[in-house]
Amino acid sequence: MNNDSVIDLNAAWRLLRVLKDQTPDEAGTRRAGDADSGAITLTPEGGWTIRAASPTTEAVALLDRLAPAMAAPGRRYVVAQIAQSLDGRTATARGCADRISGDADHQRLHQLRASVDAVVIGAGTALADSPQLTVRVVEGEQPQRVVLDRSRRLPPSHPLLADPVAPAIRLVATAAAGDDSNTLAVPGMAPSAVLDRLAACGLTRVLIEGGGNTVSRFLCSGCLDRLHLVVAPVLIGRGPAGLDLPPIDGMDQALRPSCRQHQLGDDVLFDLDLRAGKSSERG
Ligand SMILES: NC(=O)c1ccc[n+]([C@@H]2O[C@H](COP(=O)([O-])OP(=O)(O)OC[C@H]3O[C@@H](n4cnc5c(N)ncnc54)[C@H](OP(=O)(O)O)[C@@H]3O)[C@@H](O)[C@H]2O)c1
Repeated sequence: MNNDSVIDLNAAWRLLRVLKDQTPDEAGTRRAGDADSGAITLTPEGGWTIRAASPTTEAVALLDRLAPAMAAPGRRYVVAQIAQSLDGRTATARGCADRISGDADHQRLHQLRASVDAVVIGAGTALADSPQLTVRVVEGEQPQRVVLDRSRRLPPSHPLLADPVAPAIRLVATAAAGDDSNTLAVPGMAPSAVLDRLAACGLTRVLIEGGGNTVSRFLCSGCLDRLHLVVAPVLIGRGPAGLDLPPIDGMDQALRPSCRQHQLGDDVLFDLDLRAGKSSERG
């Protein structure tokens, strides 16, 4: 055993990537690494311990932030994310959502993409931003790209659908079904039906990447395990809202999920565990 080993940011990310593909033991625990360069153990609840090495402060922060979202292969796990301003906006009125948050958060987003099987966005985001949804600023596997386009608002020439290098799946309502190979019909398009359809394609670990409308639908439907809500110290003014949930009468009805906060440069990540205290075994 080499007690002088240090696990830095890159080494911690490498360990997490190995854990992503590890089958858990009977207790749900996963392990990666070795006694020479350091080994990590991940509990089913997302807790982690390192043996035979010392993690740097940055590596500890990375593991605290991402280990809870690193679900085991085949497990149904849905994490959503949204970055918003102090006044609760996710873009300008013209739909510009570029760089609301800073570099550290950009890296977190790409790591989150690399942690899942599929990245899902709503048609509004696809039309406004035409995001690539690929993993670029860190090393990692590319997730399947998915767009929820109930009534086929995206033209066939849209880059998400037309790019042969990283094709996307388009999910539409039954009434909008056609015979194009990258389009799947989902009766009703309820979030749970969307997740069932993706699971049938082997895509069980899912990131709902926005916009606010789509994330709100999944949250309201009780389909989220976790929500990464990032608040950037910027004021945008009128524009697309972040979460938009139905009204409640009193604060006793407010959702108060278990929450951990992480500083990411000037931004703050609120990591909400929406299953804490509830059964997380959903097959
Ligand atoms: N800051 C950030 O983190 C961030 C992230 C993403 C996007 N954005 C910004 O957010 C804006 C777009 O967000 P948005 O909230 O307006 O729209 P959105 O969530 O991207 O898309 C909403 C649309 O997606 C379709 N959809 C989503 N879930 C569905 C479901 N379960 N069933 C059926 N249809 C579903 C619907 O299309 P139909 O109306 O056709 O049924 C819905 O109107 C853009 O300006 C973008 O720049 C910001």
